[in-house]
Amino acid sequence: MTDPSSRVTTNVDVCVEVLSSGGLVAIPTETVYGLAALATNEAAVKNVFLAKGRPLNHPLIVHLGPSSHYEDWGVFNEQAKLLAKAFWPGPLTLLVQRTSRVLDLVTGGRDSVALRVPAHPLTQRLLDKLNDGVVAPSANRFGKVSPTTAQHVVDDLGEDVDAVLDGGTCDFGVESTIVDCTGDVAKILRPGVITVEQIRDLVGKVETNDVGESRAPGMLASHYAPNAVVELFETFNDAQLAVQRHLSDGDTSVLLHFEDVDEYAANLYAFLRSADKGNIQYVCAVLPPGKGVGLAIRDRIRKAAYRG
Ligand code: TXA
Ligand code: MG
Repeated sequence: MTDPSSRVTTNVDVCVEVLSSGGLVAIPTETVYGLAALATNEAAVKNVFLAKGRPLNHPLIVHLGPSSHYEDWGVFNEQAKLLAKAFWPGPLTLLVQRTSRVLDLVTGGRDSVALRVPAHPLTQRLLDKLNDGVVAPSANRFGKVSPTTAQHVVDDLGEDVDAVLDGGTCDFGVESTIVDCTGDVAKILRPGVITVEQIRDLVGKVETNDVGESRAPGMLASHYAPNAVVELFETFNDAQLAVQRHLSDGDTSVLLHFEDVDEYAANLYAFLRSADKGNIQYVCAVLPPGKGVGLAIRDRIRKAAYRG
């Protein structure tokens, strides 16, 4: 058995080769690492579902290179065009009508497809050399915390991934904002680093009801769950009191809080992973205010806290 760490590489050409021949490559993006397979290779796409343990009815995002022709994959209305122009490459996923190039398996048979052009330079090089799209869900086992380093991917997927393209630690740390552009009014399905405010400034009207209870299919209430029990608090003091209570009960507990929201987002998943490594029983999280990136952090922590 080979050491899974030996699959970590910075060689883009090797990764292009693996993908072209139907293999799986974990790729760095500015949000989280993705588990990539050639979007036009049905067998390879199926292996992504198998490697993650993800049900087939949870559709995948197609990732495209900066010089690709987006219109080959989806039909862009005015809002989608504006959003793509403003935020691509970047942490934004657009849901648009799909073209015939998109496999049924990718969308779970839906007539819309989720598209994104990631900003990470290594992955951009890979996608442009590949000259095709890749599907790339977050490179973690289904229902677990997303990976923000190459080592996280190795820890999670081990031998089930053929190569891991190491692009360092992800800049933003939470998954892309998903905007549904298939109707008259743009609708945010998953909050992210591109904020509701930025999207509204650009397209005027945007539906945000229930953001935080994400409505994209496959977004279960419990979706980013560590082993530790995550408890939610609106104030630092309440979280601190809870940690003290757990400790005095003889349990292990840590406080999760970063004053700066960008830092909070960037460190959130690594924090939850290290809590699990340290066998922490209770993570007491201080929720940031629900605006800007804070909304995405609240959404992910709520999901981490949910015990169905
Ligand atoms: O930042 C990100 O978006 C990361 C990186 C790797 O790009 N990817 C990511 O993928 O978060 P994933 O599979 O973990 O989450 C994508 C979500 C799915 O849960 C699904 O709900 C939604 O996107 N989605 C994908 N295709 C869709 C479709 N055709 N219709 C509605 N929702 C869709
Ligand atoms: Mg995911």
